[in-house]
Amino acid sequence: MAKREQNLDDAQEPDKMLGHDPFEGLDLEWLDREEGELSIEVLGHDPFAGMEVEWIGQERHERPPELKRDVSEIAPAQIEIEPAPEITEPPAPEQAIAAVAPSVPPQALEPPRTERPADVVLARKPLPEATFHFPTDFKWGIATAAHQVEGKNTHNDWWTWEQIDGHIKNGHTSGLACDWWKNAEADFDRAVRMGLNALRLSVEWSRIEPRPGEFDDSALERYSHMLRGLRERGIEPMVTLHHFTNPRWLAEEGGWENPETIKLFARFVHRVVEVLGQQCDLWCTINEPNVYSYLGYLEGIFPPGQSSLRTATRVVRHLMAGHAAAYREIHTIQPRARVGFAHNMIVFDPANARSPMDRRVARLADRAYNQAILTALTKGRWTLPVGLGLAWKLRGTLDWIGLNYYTRDLVAFDPTQRQTLFSRRLHADDAELLDGGYGEFYPKGLFRCLQRLARLGLPIYVTENGIPDNDDDQRPRYLLTHLHQMWHAIQLCYPVMGYYHWTLVDNFEWAEGWTLRFGLIELDPKSQARTPRRSAELYANIAQANAITPQSIDSYAPELRAELLPE
Ligand code: FCB
Repeated sequence: MAKREQNLDDAQEPDKMLGHDPFEGLDLEWLDREEGELSIEVLGHDPFAGMEVEWIGQERHERPPELKRDVSEIAPAQIEIEPAPEITEPPAPEQAIAAVAPSVPPQALEPPRTERPADVVLARKPLPEATFHFPTDFKWGIATAAHQVEGKNTHNDWWTWEQIDGHIKNGHTSGLACDWWKNAEADFDRAVRMGLNALRLSVEWSRIEPRPGEFDDSALERYSHMLRGLRERGIEPMVTLHHFTNPRWLAEEGGWENPETIKLFARFVHRVVEVLGQQCDLWCTINEPNVYSYLGYLEGIFPPGQSSLRTATRVVRHLMAGHAAAYREIHTIQPRARVGFAHNMIVFDPANARSPMDRRVARLADRAYNQAILTALTKGRWTLPVGLGLAWKLRGTLDWIGLNYYTRDLVAFDPTQRQTLFSRRLHADDAELLDGGYGEFYPKGLFRCLQRLARLGLPIYVTENGIPDNDDDQRPRYLLTHLHQMWHAIQLCYPVMGYYHWTLVDNFEWAEGWTLRFGLIELDPKSQARTPRRSAELYANIAQANAITPQSIDSYAPELRAELLPE
C-alpha cells in the first residue's frame, strides 16, 4: 500500500507521525495506584566475590579518548578532585581469568575445612561493590539560561522588571550575572575539566533582535563563537531558543498573550538557526511553558505580573503554538535537526490518599500542569482546564522530550483556592525539604516522571535537575539519589540520552535573586570569584567514570550505602 502523505495543517486528517498513539489507553488513574518499592537490588550477589582479578576493581570506561581529562585541573589551586581511574580496556574475561589462574593444581588451593562452608562465606562477605554504569554515549551536561548567566541583558522585560522595588527578593538584580557575555569560555573550561560532554545554554532574543525585524550580527557572532568553543572542547551544545525572557519591544506588544508573537518567534528562530545551525543541531524551542505562564500570569511573580487563569491558559497555548512553528522552521533549514522542548514536571500526590477530594484535586493539578501539554502534542487537542479544542499543528513536533524535574507537591482540597484549582500545596510530614521553600527532596519523582515520558516513545533528555543548597549539605545526596533513579530508568530501557544538571555556577535565580544557590560552583557575583563545592567533584567523578561508583557513594554520601548498595 502506498504511503499516504501527511498534511499536518489539515484538521480533518489526523496524522500518524509517531506511528502509534503512545497515550492511547493511558491510565490516568496512576495516582491511585500503589507503586510498590521501586529500588532494585543491584546484583543480588557478587559474582566476583573471592576472585582476585585485578581489572574487576577498576572502572570499565569506554568513553572516547578526547573525554579522558585531567580532573585535577577543575579549578586550579582551589580544588582537588580525585583523579579518574586509569582507563584501560579490561582483557577479555577468559584472558583475565587465565592471567590469574593458579599454576598449581586446584586441589592444592583448598583450605583445610574446619568450618562449615556457609560460615566461611559469611565471614568473608565483602561490602557490596556494584557500580551503576551508564550507556557509553551518555551525555553528562549542565544547563543554563542566557539571562541568568550573561549579565547586562538590558533590553529584555526581565531587566525592566528587576528594577522595580519588591519584584526580586532582597532587591537583588541580575547585574553582571556570571559575566558569560564576556567570558563564558572560562566556565566552559571548568566544565571540560570536570569531564562533561554536554552543555545547555539559551540565546537571548533581545540581544539578537533588539528592535523588531533588526538583527544584530555581532550578537549572533558572539553566540557562534561560544558554540564553536564548546565543540572545540568536546562539549555538545544544546541551544534553548526561549528561556523566560522577551525583548522589551515584544513585551510592549502583549508578549505571549498576543498571537502575533507566534509568527515573530518563528522569524527569530529562522534567523538564529540559519546562523547557529553551523554549530548546533540540538534545539530546545521553549523552556517550561507551564512555569512561564504559571508564574507570570497566575502567581504574578514573573513579568508581566498578572493573575488570571484565563490569560495563563491562553499563554500556554500560544507558547506551544510557538514551539510547533519553531519546530517546522528549524526542520526546513536543518532537516536533520533534533528538536524538542523542556517540560517542567512536578509530581502531585494527594495529601491524604484516602480522601477522594484530595485525589481529585491532585489529578486536576497533574492534568493542568503536567499532562495537558503532552496530550496536546500527541493527540492534537487541548484538554480542560488548559483549553478546549483542536491543536492539530502540535502533533508530530517533537524529536525528543526534555524533562525538568525538581520536586513533588502534596495536594489537598481547598474550596477557597479558586486560582489554584481548589487546592493547597503541602509537604509530607516526614519529608526532607529543600532550601528556600523549594519543595520536597523526592528522588523517586524523577523515576516516576521518566516512566511517564517513556510512553511517548521518544528520546528523553533530563534538561534540568538540581537543588538550591548554598552550604552543599544536601546536594551530594540529591545528585546520587536522583542519578540512581535515572540509572534505574535506563535499566528498564527508558530512552534517557543525557542529563543536564542545573547548574554549573550559582546564577541569578529570577524572583529569588541571588538567595537560592543552585551551582556546583559557588559564585560571588561582586568579585566573580568561583569556589567549587564538593558536589562539583562528585559530579566530575560520576561523569568521568560514566557511572556511580561505590567509591563516590562512600566519599560523598556514605549514609546512602544501605539504600543504594543493599547487602
Ligand atoms: C527552572 C528554570 C531555570 C532555573 C531553575 C532553578 O524552572 O527553568 O531557569 O531557574 O528552575
